[in-house]
Amino acid sequence: MAANPRLTGDTISVERPTSREQFDEFARLPFQVYGARDAWWPPDMHSEIDLLSRRSLLSSYLEVTPFCARRAGRVVARVSAVINRRYIEHWNEQLGQLIHFEALEGEDIAVAAMLDQAVQSIRQRGMRAVRSGFAPFLDYPYAIDNYDLLPSFLLRGNPPAYHRYFKEAGFVTEKGQVDYTAPLTPEILARYRRIADAAAMAGNGITIQSWREFGFLAAIDAWTDVTNSAFDRHWGWNPVTRAEMRPMLTSLWETPVADLSMLAALDGECVGAVFSVPDFSIALARVRRAARLEPERGGGTRGALINIGVVARARGRGVALAMAARSFLAMAQRKMRFAGYTLVLDDNWASRRTALSLGAHVTGNFVTYRRDL
Ligand SMILES: CC(C)(COP(=O)(O)OP(=O)(O)OC[C@H]1O[C@@H](n2cnc3c(N)ncnc32)[C@H](O)[C@@H]1OP(=O)(O)O)[C@@H](O)C(=O)NCCC(=O)NCCS
Repeated sequence: MAANPRLTGDTISVERPTSREQFDEFARLPFQVYGARDAWWPPDMHSEIDLLSRRSLLSSYLEVTPFCARRAGRVVARVSAVINRRYIEHWNEQLGQLIHFEALEGEDIAVAAMLDQAVQSIRQRGMRAVRSGFAPFLDYPYAIDNYDLLPSFLLRGNPPAYHRYFKEAGFVTEKGQVDYTAPLTPEILARYRRIADAAAMAGNGITIQSWREFGFLAAIDAWTDVTNSAFDRHWGWNPVTRAEMRPMLTSLWETPVADLSMLAALDGECVGAVFSVPDFSIALARVRRAARLEPERGGGTRGALINIGVVARARGRGVALAMAARSFLAMAQRKMRFAGYTLVLDDNWASRRTALSLGAHVTGNFVTYRRDL
């Protein structure tokens, strides 16, 4: 269905893709935006198309309306307007989300027209605000540096023009985020051993196990429960269910994720969870043959801790540090030389202090946008 096909007498049109062919075209736009780069992460087109076709496990919680802008018949920008019922109920906030945003350079008029229609569609659904750049498992923040480098796994390496596009559309920076990297030097690994040994000392009741040691399938459920509890008041989060996390994570049991991810128990009860990944850049990133990745960016040498949470009653006792230290030691055993500590809110001092105590440094910066309606 075409919505408001001709906007300015120019050859720009904004459409709502509805057919499989149009979803494919929508999902392929990142190849035009990033395809000429030395290194980039291609999108998971199948999951994206499943989401647009309402065939995703997340579909029952979401209304997703994709938009794309065409100029001279060619798709030059795309975005999906999302009504996320779980988020709205959890925070009691009438907030819509714009996910999947991508656009070619110099397409200011087309992008403005498309964002305007997407925002209007969210307003018509009764929402009072729109966010872009953060929605659990759906959207990640916009990079404000390292534009030409391979971003950390899952993070964006968007072109700088995206900031102009959002500011022109009336958005403001809602939150800043940091990505950290720790070099796994002998001195830092010795520090991790001290942290892990101290936590393992009899008497404090803390036990750390990898997901493989715990039992991978049970670990997925434990991660889901701990994460829902630990992130309950974390800005931007919405609860997730065991039923959706199991199929999303089960296939990873054969990978080093099972050895790098950790769970912490206090007096026998699971109170902490870490989800970490090996360097997926070799398997998943597109890297030009002649290109050389810096070892702290990928090529087999950068693992990453993607998510860490400790339930409120167990905080401040070194559980987070002990889990992260164990995870990073396991990375070093598998020849990784750097460990990412991915995406911390600028004002999340508990997590930033954890990163600092792990010897990590700020290596990437990101923002999430918001517009009140
Ligand atoms: C962040 C979080 C995992 C820390 O867990 P924790 O087990 O309490 O952390 P630790 O006890 O291992 O402490 C790690 C460091 O953070 C510091 N810290 C812990 N809580 C803090 C707080 N509320 N404010 C400031 N610093 C804090 C500790 O002093 C320690 O620093 P130090 O080594 O310099 O003394 C936990 O607060 C949490 O789950 N928060 C909600 C979810 C979240 O924000 N996760 C991280 C997303 S990036």
